[in-house]
Amino acid sequence: MKQRIGSAFRSGFSEEPPFFVRAPGRVNLIGEHTDYNDGFVLPMAIDRAIWFALRPRSDRRVRVHSLDFDETLDISLDDLRRGDGRWMKYISGMAWSLQQAGYQLCGWEGVASGNVPVASGLSSSAALELAAARAFSAVSGFDWDAVEMAQLALVAENQWVGVNCGIMDQLISAAGVAGHALLIDCRSLHTRLAPLPAGYQIVVLNSAAPRSLAESAYNLRRSECESAVRKLAAVYPEIQALRDVTPAMLQAEAQRLDAIELKRARHIVTEDERVLLSVEAMEQGDVARLGELMVASHVSLGDDYEVSSLELDTLVELALKTEGVLGARLTGAGFGGCAIALCKTEHAQNAATSIIGRYNEITGLPGEAYVTVASEGASLLIGEESLLT
Ligand code: GLA
Repeated sequence: MKQRIGSAFRSGFSEEPPFFVRAPGRVNLIGEHTDYNDGFVLPMAIDRAIWFALRPRSDRRVRVHSLDFDETLDISLDDLRRGDGRWMKYISGMAWSLQQAGYQLCGWEGVASGNVPVASGLSSSAALELAAARAFSAVSGFDWDAVEMAQLALVAENQWVGVNCGIMDQLISAAGVAGHALLIDCRSLHTRLAPLPAGYQIVVLNSAAPRSLAESAYNLRRSECESAVRKLAAVYPEIQALRDVTPAMLQAEAQRLDAIELKRARHIVTEDERVLLSVEAMEQGDVARLGELMVASHVSLGDDYEVSSLELDTLVELALKTEGVLGARLTGAGFGGCAIALCKTEHAQNAATSIIGRYNEITGLPGEAYVTVASEGASLLIGEESLLT
């Protein structure tokens, strides 16, 4: 990836790029739809990322050529407009959000490319936002604060792009640590490293099924959670989000909620518990337990949160019958996109091939599977380093 954009930069600008930036996509091991309920998530950054090779400009324009889309974004930081298409809005949105927060930005130009599949639930949009933030920090000379950058990327996503997501994707793309998942408390934004079990790997299973109505269904889930909170807060005023609801409270006040609200709340309340138990299992090296919790999460997402799909269920079922796999579940928002499997390293490659082969036979969809490793969050390579690595 780096070589590809490096050589495209050299042919376009006749010099070595002074900066490379990259920001990764993610999978979430467990803790789904809990982020916007102020709860816990356990994502890891993957070894697929968006890359830019760039140099500063002396004016306030940003010009980026995407090798993947063969399109060029050309904007003025003094006149940012909504309405840029596809990948471009994430860069203009990041510029807008940084400027809103008071950052003095300088212009830059360069080339972009990535290998995070688009619209597959691996957070290519968060990766693009964080790569743009890294680029602005490199040319404008401000320090990189991963948590703050993730917060500003979330503002861009919510207010500029118009997607009402939580903080998980932006924060893991900004702050991921190689070899680890990150336990994130989405209320305090405190993070804790959770080491991935030695001898196991995560296999990404892309269903390649179109994600229909994902955005409106996602927003509907959010509002169902909020309405459950309002009703529970009438009895327990300390409740601000489903994060504050214990299983006992939910059981005691179940009759206040309608059937849908109860299911949504039950998923969130039990999922928060599963995340914390998963971290414990990882710290104790209890991989079998982690696998069980992943499966329980998938079941809850299907039955109570109703965001799974036939394709995702098929992938998970196939994975669980495959040698070396200890757990599997959908990852990200659901409604299509990807599942993941926790697999013994020595079986991981074969598991990836055989699961996707069977999936293809059953569904007729191509699917895609690969073994991934937990990678570093958004990073900057400068000068010498950018030439050597
Ligand atoms: C999407 C959103 C995240 C999170 C997940 C579900 O990836 O962008 O904020 O809500 O769905 O866990």
